[in-house]
Amino acid sequence: MRRVTLNISVIGTGYLGATHAACMAELGFDVIGVDVDPEKIESLSRGELPFHEPGLPELIRKHVDSGRLRFTTDMSEVGAWGDVHFIAVGTPQVKGGTGADLTYVDAATTSLVRSITKSGALIVGKSTVPVGTAARLYDLVQEQKNPGVELSLAWNPEFLREGFAVEDTLRPDRLVVGTRTEADEAKLREVYAEALGRDTPWVSTDFETAELVKVAANAFLATKISFINAFAEVTETVGGDITTLADAIGFDDRIGRKFLNAGVGFGGGCLPKDIRALQTRVAELGLDHSMKFLDEIDQINLRRRKKAVARAFELLDQDVVGKKIAVLGITFKPLSDDVRDAPGLDVAARLFNAGADVHVYDPEGNKNAAKRYPRLGYVDSLTEAVKDAELVVLTTEWNEFKALTPADLQDLVAAKRFVDARNVLPAAQWEAAGWTFAQLGRKFNG
Ligand code: UGA
Repeated sequence: MRRVTLNISVIGTGYLGATHAACMAELGFDVIGVDVDPEKIESLSRGELPFHEPGLPELIRKHVDSGRLRFTTDMSEVGAWGDVHFIAVGTPQVKGGTGADLTYVDAATTSLVRSITKSGALIVGKSTVPVGTAARLYDLVQEQKNPGVELSLAWNPEFLREGFAVEDTLRPDRLVVGTRTEADEAKLREVYAEALGRDTPWVSTDFETAELVKVAANAFLATKISFINAFAEVTETVGGDITTLADAIGFDDRIGRKFLNAGVGFGGGCLPKDIRALQTRVAELGLDHSMKFLDEIDQINLRRRKKAVARAFELLDQDVVGKKIAVLGITFKPLSDDVRDAPGLDVAARLFNAGADVHVYDPEGNKNAAKRYPRLGYVDSLTEAVKDAELVVLTTEWNEFKALTPADLQDLVAAKRFVDARNVLPAAQWEAAGWTFAQLGRKFNG
């Protein structure tokens, strides 16, 4: 194995930080993860994660056991030791607003800078931030660093997807670094030498571009999804098949088929908040119009949730009160237990608020969803959820749900009614088996 010499710290051990720390250890570095939450540090040290991510607990355990990875709440431990410090704390949507909350990034950077005594270290921002943040933090670092300590800052956005976090971190499709000196870029090349050896595209740029690449990528993905969902609104009205339409335009290489799956829309901790934060930031810069279209992207997306609920009402002849409805899938996407801004949870809550007797089943998301909406009925199996249901609504395309056939459910449900809000089941087969079956992006004839 290559001899690696850099000591790496990762500040913030949530989704991004825990993955980054484990993957840096996998690449051969000595790594310390730092977090202000002692409980999180204790469980990570045992290789236990407070969230679901395939392959990550095993990787953490492997490197905690090998001694290459450890976790602490004590920032001073890394200040005297680290050569490269990654900032990987969250930038959630600000409460009561649409911008990004930078409290954690600012607090982590300040506390880190004050603790750094090893000269020549590099601080690398990974968090998703509004453009201009890196330049501001660069100045903060220079102002607050300890006397005699040389310190620099770089920005290196992360593009990992939940559910594929380890794979995306170890084998990224590109690496983007915003730096102010060649020495800083050289140090990051050393960190990412393994990926560079595989000819991974390396984009070396300034702070502003690096920050914007991240939000531009997420805004583009959100736009693709809302674009196809806007057409779904049309095919729902005039007829036509949204999936065939997506397939047909997707054959054009310039368009591509990915992220053109119409349905109940996007959710999660990234796409929704990132498009809102981007609009807010450009408005602050006096450019209200440049990103105005993202408001429409957001609105199209939110309308999809209402449409899924409207379909449920249609199938129940507008009377949901007291009706047992099974909602399958409550996470924002499969292979995750994340319910932040999750379309399925929103649909379930709306049906519940309208008086339906909602029974939710998700392979991983029930626990998190119950913290947000304790009043919904959560059950531990698909069978329990659909038993005697008047209507089944599929809102997250877990494999377990995609594999369903009419025969699996027909003896369990009270009535053969189904809303496939992710368009993943073969409608013709369900209709042939006598189900009243609706999808989003297809006209529903009752
Ligand atoms: C997203 C980006 O894909 C990552 O590249 C980025 O690093 C990450 O945000 C982040 O900023 O940290 P993620 O939030 O894990 O990743 O989820 P995606 O796989 O992008 O899915 C987002 C949502 O779009 C899900 O609710 C999914 O169901 C929905 N979606 C996706 C559709 O409705 N249709 C599609 O065709 C694709």
